Amino acid sequence: MERIYFDNGSTSFPKAPGVSDAVRALLDNGAFNINRGGYEEAYAISGQVLETRQMLCSLFGFHKFKNVVFTPSITYSLNYLIKGFLKPGDHVITSSMEHNAVMRPLVQMEKQGVAFDAVPCAGDGTLDPALVEKCIRPNTKAVVLTAASNVCGTFLPIAEVGRICRDHGIAFIVDSAQKAGTFPIHMEECGIDALCFTGHKSLLGPQGIGGMLLSDRMAKETTPLIAGGTGSASHLEEMPSFMPDRFEAGTMNLPGIIGLRAALLYHQSQEPGAIAQKELDLAMRFREGVLELPGARPVGLSGREGRAAIVSVDFKNDDNARIAFELEQGYGVMTRVGLHCAPRAHQTLGTYPEGTVRFSFGHGNTKAEVDYCLDALRRICAGK
Ligand SMILES: Cc1ncc(COP(=O)(O)O)c(C=O)c1O
Repeated sequence: MERIYFDNGSTSFPKAPGVSDAVRALLDNGAFNINRGGYEEAYAISGQVLETRQMLCSLFGFHKFKNVVFTPSITYSLNYLIKGFLKPGDHVITSSMEHNAVMRPLVQMEKQGVAFDAVPCAGDGTLDPALVEKCIRPNTKAVVLTAASNVCGTFLPIAEVGRICRDHGIAFIVDSAQKAGTFPIHMEECGIDALCFTGHKSLLGPQGIGGMLLSDRMAKETTPLIAGGTGSASHLEEMPSFMPDRFEAGTMNLPGIIGLRAALLYHQSQEPGAIAQKELDLAMRFREGVLELPGARPVGLSGREGRAAIVSVDFKNDDNARIAFELEQGYGVMTRVGLHCAPRAHQTLGTYPEGTVRFSFGHGNTKAEVDYCLDALRRICAGK
């Protein structure tokens, strides 16, 4: 049976060409520890890590490569910031479309005296920036926002919210997980103080590598939660104050960084916007086909503007879990069913607690796969 992967929102497959070769070459030739080994081979890898920081700067419209910090994933980046930057007595604003990578650390911090408001988004996942401004209090320290919903793909207005944050002197932290690489995000134009990313989704790199790009203010005012060896200032028993060492304790994930570097090279080799156009063509073709199925309700925005290539469907006449199961067992189509680690987003979209079947398209998918999946759904919905 053919296997079709429509779960790119979870992690991308296939990875960018060159990623596995780069990781393999590093491991085969020696993944020598940087900042520690005083030999040529380690310096060469150091150079590639530095290049990766610079490539991330140019991808995200940022200029300080030393303020690019590597972490194991965006979940870690968001935790480092939410827990290291916010203090008891602070207030934070977020949205009702956030992933648990934002909500769970916020709820943990609430128990330590950090208050938050989750601004309600509309039924299609869009956010009115004016509602964010209305929530600002004298003690509002930060706004934390996803750039795109992982449930339905709807973009949140980061440029507009960034302007509001700048006007009020509030730090702006953005979760770029579902947008980075495929759609442009310009950190400085959008007034973003901390841009968190994960390597294994739309950036098309391996798992286990993510990071954050920090303004000087964020870098200075965030307490490093993880302390340890950095290979620098080793006479100190405190973390160095300089970047990126301040936030990079412990042996670095060099295979992850080198794999990510290969993925970034691939993105650089592509026509700007080409991957997005291809994925959106597939998503819209799929969405139109779904509308013809009895009882199937795709959630989120109906048009192709302002969204990523994620289509979540509530099969009203059926059990979503059964549909996903039959798609996989009978037709080899891999999707994700349920709440997608974003219960509030489903409440916002009107699909809580049943959730949806999420179809998330990637650079490797084809129109033929979309048509095959629609045909499979027609049969499943008709009970054949
Ligand atoms: C919007 C969003 N934020 C954060 C995450 C967490 O990503 P990771 O598991 O790579 O840390 C995800 C993953 O699904 C996501 O979709």
